[in-house]
Amino acid sequence: MKQTILALDIYDLAKVQKLIDETADFIDIYKVGPILFLQAGKEIIKIIKERGKETFLDLKFHDIPATVKRSVESARDLGIYSLTVHSIGGEEMLKAAVSVPNHPKIWAVTVLTSQITSPDEVIKRAKLAQSCGTDGVIASPLEIELIKKECGKTFEVITPGIRPAKTDDDQKRTATPQAAIKAGADFIVIGRPIIEAQNPQKAAQEIAQSIGN
Ligand code: C5P
Repeated sequence: MKQTILALDIYDLAKVQKLIDETADFIDIYKVGPILFLQAGKEIIKIIKERGKETFLDLKFHDIPATVKRSVESARDLGIYSLTVHSIGGEEMLKAAVSVPNHPKIWAVTVLTSQITSPDEVIKRAKLAQSCGTDGVIASPLEIELIKKECGKTFEVITPGIRPAKTDDDQKRTATPQAAIKAGADFIVIGRPIIEAQNPQKAAQEIAQSIGN
């Protein structure tokens, strides 16, 4: 059940709380990105914890190594499950992030799923992230198999760009939840197909059922 991560890309805290309550049977990890974190900060992480759920803090750190290290320390103290850094920050920055004692899982963004890129570029960044000691990478559904082949099965792949049905939005490299899990994704990240659904609970349930959760 830990496989599905719901992206809470919403401003309104009351709406977020409703969404968590509606989807809690099908989701264990909630992704908090800048949209919500800038509105509700620590409060939202507390709310997620009170409901017995985990937070994935997706702020995609990309800064000088010393700043990223302190950012990871601050994030760790929030009691979160995982966070993201951007692989484009390079070796020194990635190593600084990983050097923080008792850090949450650190996942490195390879290339945003809204961008067109080549598999070579994604693999290059995944290997860099792995050699620096990150727990895994964020990559599109289309690169999962290649990353698992090149980096090994235990290196985690977290996959956004999940679309149960064909949509016309900014995600360029997409797949269905079943296809992503079948390809080896450790976690799938889903936002709009659930949060913008007429019935988010039903949408979350259907996705969970489609991957056998
Ligand atoms: O709404 P949607 O399902 O497209 O949400 C995907 C989520 O994953 C968004 O919160 C987006 O910021 C995030 N994400 C992404 N591509 C990455 C890393 C994170 O789409 N490479």
